[in-house]
Amino acid sequence: MKILMINGTMQKGSTYTIGKMFIERTASEEDSVKELFLPKDMPEFCRGCAVCIRQDEKKCPDYLIYMRRITEMIDEADLLVFTSPVLVYHVSGQMKALLDHYGYRWMVHRPDASMFRKQAVCITTAAGAGMKKALRDMTDSLRYWGVARIYTYGVAVGGGIDDTNREKIETAVHNLAEKIEHDASKVTPGLRVRILFYIMRFMQKRTGTTETDKNYWEEKGWLGRNRPWK
Ligand SMILES: Cc1cc2nc3c(=O)[nH]c(=O)nc-3n(C[C@H](O)[C@H](O)[C@H](O)COP(=O)(O)O)c2cc1C
Repeated sequence: MKILMINGTMQKGSTYTIGKMFIERTASEEDSVKELFLPKDMPEFCRGCAVCIRQDEKKCPDYLIYMRRITEMIDEADLLVFTSPVLVYHVSGQMKALLDHYGYRWMVHRPDASMFRKQAVCITTAAGAGMKKALRDMTDSLRYWGVARIYTYGVAVGGGIDDTNREKIETAVHNLAEKIEHDASKVTPGLRVRILFYIMRFMQKRTGTTETDKNYWEEKGWLGRNRPWK
């Protein structure tokens, strides 16, 4: 299994620690683990030019230097681990900026077929509150990318991980790791993702969104009998 961890800050604090705990429990010796840190690995904001949606994601001003590499890493991973601390009730700005760059990949536009065979885990920590919204910031994108199975863990850690909360966190991480399917060929999307796909397919069949999107769906054969999870 190929595991890619994308960290929403450069801090190796509580959130990163829990992410690593999870990966250590999940990964076996033959698995590969890669890590990205934001903003180092993608320091640019989305300009909102919509060139990716209307024309071609390769025309994004950030494609050659940053996005090409990250997208290749995302596409080849079987398990995505997104981490971000809660910053003012949401994910970090740099995590949001990365996710913004993938607007074109939302199912309404041009989802990548590989997503429908992937698992993802989103992890967040807060001092006290905001975990639900921060997790939602990440799961919204992953769900609309078409990721087959998404799991989350958010925890209020107060001042950090210490003897008062370590056991609780370790148990939760253990339970999270138990949910991961190690045979990538067995990962297929659940009903929710399939329903979303069929709604988007219906839209593309009827009116389409952009010409680029419609051509994409046609080329994939998704307007016919092909499905991205087969
Ligand atoms: C700029 C900033 C904003 C924050 N906003 C919140 C917040 O809205 N709610 C909260 O409970 N904690 C908030 N925190 C605290 C962090 O979420 C918390 O300390 C978290 O565990 C830090 O994770 P880390 O150790 O991985 O960096 C904030 C911290 C910073 C630096």
